[in-house]
Amino acid sequence: MADHFQRHETANLCYVLDLGAGRGILEEAIDNDKRFAPYRSRLIFITLDVADINNQQLLSSNQQHVIAEGEKPPFVDKAFDLVISNMAIDLMPRDDVFQQVNRIIKLDGRIILNLHHPNLIEIATQKLKLLRQELKKLQRKLDYKSPGNSDYNQISEKIKEIQQQMKDAEFIIQNGPKMFFPNREEILAYLSPFFPQREIKIKEVPYGEIGENGWWEVDIGPVILSA
Ligand SMILES: C[S@@+](CC[C@H](N)C(=O)[O-])C[C@H]1O[C@@H](n2cnc3c(N)ncnc32)[C@H](O)[C@@H]1O
Repeated sequence: MADHFQRHETANLCYVLDLGAGRGILEEAIDNDKRFAPYRSRLIFITLDVADINNQQLLSSNQQHVIAEGEKPPFVDKAFDLVISNMAIDLMPRDDVFQQVNRIIKLDGRIILNLHHPNLIEIATQKLKLLRQELKKLQRKLDYKSPGNSDYNQISEKIKEIQQQMKDAEFIIQNGPKMFFPNREEILAYLSPFFPQREIKIKEVPYGEIGENGWWEVDIGPVILSA
């Protein structure tokens, strides 16, 4: 995703909206990547997320954060040169969010989306099994410790972490089948009516190729003006 910023190397200001940005992992990565240093100051990042994230929790000091729903972004029409979203837009009410993205993107703007791949459901199923085993082990360990003891607190913290990861995995297993696009053709068929004059390219980044998760990388180009 970061590679897409390079075309703005020579541009003046580039207004970027990161939809469902969380705390701003991507913005932090861009801040720390020397390749972007020459033009980083011209990239204006607006991050949006529905979660209750306060300014102290933001990871980049160069992001302007907005708490809002992605399907109701509080911005004027054609405000952004680039709209990006990493593993988030397909968790939002679909019709509304894509209508809004089409409204707030400039005619010559670009949209880059990483969408969840259905193989995440299989990965989450396997992960959940391992997490359950891990949880049992930790709960057994805890039985031999007394409350207040530093080991007890450490193990309790770890248990909380595992329980959160289990919730995340359960969410994917339950909701993934209705939320995630199953294949490239369905993504294209779904998105084309929202972005009729733009070229849509879809790349499948499969499980195992990069990192742990597979995803769909969607690149929606500028409006193509007919002659
Ligand atoms: C899997 S996280 C991805 C976070 C970030 N993009 C990243 O790459 O680390 C999904 C994010 O989408 C946000 N989200 C889910 N539904 C949303 C909605 N309707 N509007 C705005 N943000 C939403 C969640 O709060 C969460 O931060």
